[in-house]
Amino acid sequence: MAIVLLLPGLLLGLYALLYYNCLQGAKCQNQSSLRGKTIVITGGNTGIGKMTALDLARRRARVILACRSRAKGEAAVYDIRRESGNNEVLFMSLDLASLDSVRAFAETFLKSEPRLDILINNAGVGAGGRRKDGFNLVFQVNHVGHFLLTHLLLDRLKLSAPSRVVIVASSAHQAGKIDFENLHKPVEGMLQNFQAYCNSKLANILHARELANRLEGTNVTCYAVHPGFVNSELFRYIPSWLRPLFVPISWLFFRDPTDGAQTSIYCATQEGIEMFSGRYFVDCRVRDPWPQAHDDAVAQKLWEVSERMVGLAT
Ligand SMILES: NC(=O)c1ccc[n+]([C@@H]2O[C@H](COP(=O)([O-])OP(=O)(O)OC[C@H]3O[C@@H](n4cnc5c(N)ncnc54)[C@H](OP(=O)(O)O)[C@@H]3O)[C@@H](O)[C@H]2O)c1
Ligand SMILES: *[C@@H]1O[C@H](CO)[C@@H](O)[C@H](O)[C@H]1NC(C)=O
Ligand SMILES: *[C@@H]1O[C@H](CO)[C@@H](O)[C@H](O)[C@H]1NC(C)=O
Repeated sequence: MAIVLLLPGLLLGLYALLYYNCLQGAKCQNQSSLRGKTIVITGGNTGIGKMTALDLARRRARVILACRSRAKGEAAVYDIRRESGNNEVLFMSLDLASLDSVRAFAETFLKSEPRLDILINNAGVGAGGRRKDGFNLVFQVNHVGHFLLTHLLLDRLKLSAPSRVVIVASSAHQAGKIDFENLHKPVEGMLQNFQAYCNSKLANILHARELANRLEGTNVTCYAVHPGFVNSELFRYIPSWLRPLFVPISWLFFRDPTDGAQTSIYCATQEGIEMFSGRYFVDCRVRDPWPQAHDDAVAQKLWEVSERMVGLAT
């Protein structure tokens, strides 16, 4: 009889130990104030982005949620204002799948906001994101759109220096490859989409690396982040036959979005990490990414190719 009671208790205890020691990850310890600072966060309406925005709003920053859906963006503004007591939380429309939308966002932002202290490239589509004709949606949203956005906002970041760019990448870069011929071609099916996701996350880390090189001496620094595995909406497109397996795993073994936001918050706020500009952070610590993510020649070529993709190169 006793064993019947003991066993679930023991399992629960073991699970709690596992969760708090291994799965939850590090907390950003610093509670520094961000009063007077302006922050743009892409995809701030849900998941990791929303929890990052909430934390920064609690630190009294002016927080702009750059989201593709007005309804979802404004609902998040309402929640974050209410929970943080900070009314300087705003929605601005940005669809990273469209370069015109990125340009329109930048124009509106630059006209209405005199400074930009922290840009957080957080939005992302998961492996099953719906296909868009003519180009690869996952790569477009996760890398190309953010590349143009960062470019257009860079002068404002420089004017507001010391300032930062935080790029939310992923450990999925491990399976990523930069194949310059096929990078932006449309893909079909789950596996190809997953490959595109990994490639885009590798591109995120290479982007941070090359950006840091180009920003040397400007007091604008940048950081790539792996948030951990997080129970968010990122996996909304996984095929239905995978759900019965995937849903329990993500509930049990993935972090909640608040824990998943910690490394983004850390890279946005922690003083003294400027010497790690261009590096990759996991659990609020600098880490070496996989070898393909520290190839400077590829990073430089990716920069040039990205410039051509967004129509910047002459
Ligand atoms: N979850 C994980 O385990 C995990 C692991 C490693 C890295 N990451 C990275 O963490 C970041 C945040 O993901 P998450 O887990 O919080 O996922 P999420 O809950 O799905 O949030 C993604 C956000 O990106 C936005 N977004 C998608 N497409 C967009 C577009 N075309 N234009 C503008 N915004 C767009 C979404 O807006 P809508 O709500 O309108 O769709 C949403 O706000 C991503 O870069 C992801 O790659 C996540
Ligand atoms: C947080 O940052 C402040 C400066 O902004 C610094 O004095 C303090 O030591 C930091 N605390 C931690 C725990 O890193
Ligand atoms: C960068 O910051 C340092 C220290 O605050 C300052 O001395 C230097 O002039 C700044 N450089 C630029 C380009 O703003």
